[in-house]
Parts: sequence; C-alpha cells; structure tokens
Amino acid sequence: MRGLRDVMDWVGRADTPVYATPYDELAPLYAFERERMRNYQAVAEFVARETPDDARTVGVGACGPGFVLEGVSEHFDTVVGFDLSPTMLELAAERTAAPVVAADLRTTVAPETFDVFTILGGSIAHLPVIDGADSVRAALESAYESLRPGGVFLCDFMRQGALESGRVTSDTFASERFTVERTVITTGEPDGQTDLGGVGRYTFAYEITDDVAGDTVRVGTSTPVREFSVGGLLGATLGAGFADARLVAPPTHGVGIVARKPA
Ligand SMILES: C[S@@+](CC[C@H](N)C(=O)[O-])C[C@H]1O[C@@H](n2cnc3c(N)ncnc32)[C@H](O)[C@@H]1O
Repeated sequence: MRGLRDVMDWVGRADTPVYATPYDELAPLYAFERERMRNYQAVAEFVARETPDDARTVGVGACGPGFVLEGVSEHFDTVVGFDLSPTMLELAAERTAAPVVAADLRTTVAPETFDVFTILGGSIAHLPVIDGADSVRAALESAYESLRPGGVFLCDFMRQGALESGRVTSDTFASERFTVERTVITTGEPDGQTDLGGVGRYTFAYEITDDVAGDTVRVGTSTPVREFSVGGLLGATLGAGFADARLVAPPTHGVGIVARKPA
C-alpha cells in the first residue's frame, strides 16, 4: 500500500522547492491524518440514518482514500466511489472492495443509478468557481441526474464565517512508526466572494518523521477552500431540482444538507 514512506522518499528525491498537490501526490499523508482526526464510522451511520430504509445503492462522490466508502459499504448493498485523483483512487481500492471510478463530479453522470448520492468529508469546499461557472452547482446537477426518482442527496459544508483569515492551527498525528506535525494557515483569497459564500486558502506545512528509519522530511502545500452561505447553498440545491432540502448536523464536519429528488 502506498504510504507515508513513499511520500517521504518522493519528497526526498524531488527538486527543491517541491510542488505537491494535497489531494493527489500527498494523498497518503491526507489519509494518515484524516484517519486519526475523523470518525468515519459515525459518518457512515449518519448516511444510514438520513436515508430511507429501502435504499440499496450509494454513489460516494469525492471518495478520497475511501474512508466514507468503507463505512457506507457496511450499510448498503452496492456502493461506488468517484474521485478525480488517481492516487486517492488507488488508496480507496486498497481499502475497500467497493468499485471506484475516476470521475469529475462536475461532469460525470450515472443516469438514475443510485438511491443515495453523497459528497461528504468537506469535499464541496474544494470545488472551485472557474470563469464564473460554479463547480458546486455543476456537481449538484450531476448528483441529481445520477439519483433515481425519490433518491436522497447528502453533503456537508462549512458555514459562512468558518474561514477565519490569519488563523493558524497545529496538530500532531502519530502511528507506531511515523509522526506528522501539521500546521495550517487560513487566508482569504483576493477575489474571494462568490454568490454561494467566501473563498479562502489553506496553506499546509508538514514535518514527517519516520521513527524507525530515523529521518524527517518537510513539505508544504496549499489548496483553495470555500465556505457557504446556508441560504445560498440550500437555494443551489433546490435550483438543481431537489425538493425537501433541509439542514442536518453531520457527525464530523460543519453543516449538512439532505435533499430528495422528486419521485
Ligand atoms: C477533502 S478531500 C475529501 C475526501 C473524502 N470525502 C474524505 O472524507 O476523506 C476532497 C476530495 O475531493 C476530490 N475532488 C476534488 N475535486 C473533485 C472533482 N471535481 N471531482 C471529483 N473529485 C474531486 C479530491 O481528489 C479529494 O479526494
């Protein structure tokens, strides 16, 4: 399995300064920290609780390294993961037997295939606005198309005000072999206001120590991130065709929306 040692070796070999994408090249690092900071079992129970008892098939959008997939697979008959990142998909395929598909949430549709479609784990925060076109609206429309009539959509998001520019957080994640020190700085983006809410940037500094090999590498990366006006996102959900959109409290991340495709 691709893991932290591979990331350390890659960073060690790369030219300086290394450019590393947080959700692809550093996917094993993302997986290492998320596994330690989030309760994905609770996320899967949340999905099961918020969806009809007769739901059997689930599309997991932006499945990342497969934690949501793994948990949800215990509650439903058929679960399929979708993600853009080849490395995330590789990790997800190693973690679970559920099929995973390389797909862009903005454009990929599996017409009327699923009883449930989720975009969880803070994923819509990373869907950008490009040339005035909001990827979140496109992803909502694709999710709608991929649901059977009567199907249920779930997503989670950070509410407006969550992205506090200048905020610095430091955390340590450890296994028996590795220690990861992570510092995250939040900044606002110059053109950061969209009609669905604000845009900022997370800048990450990592120090990864292999306590067995006795070496340490440092790597930095950053990603744009969005917060959402509750009314704006509920409106976009209804605008994609959904009905009965309501707010819920997901177990791990911000606020949730549950909505239904009309039967
Ligand atoms: C913050 S991670 C969340 C991953 C996973 N949901 C979790 O909870 O661990 C965001 C994920 O969204 C994926 N992603 C970003 N843009 C995407 C797009 N347009 N289509 C599909 N996946 C996308 C990234 O590759 C990454 O795996």
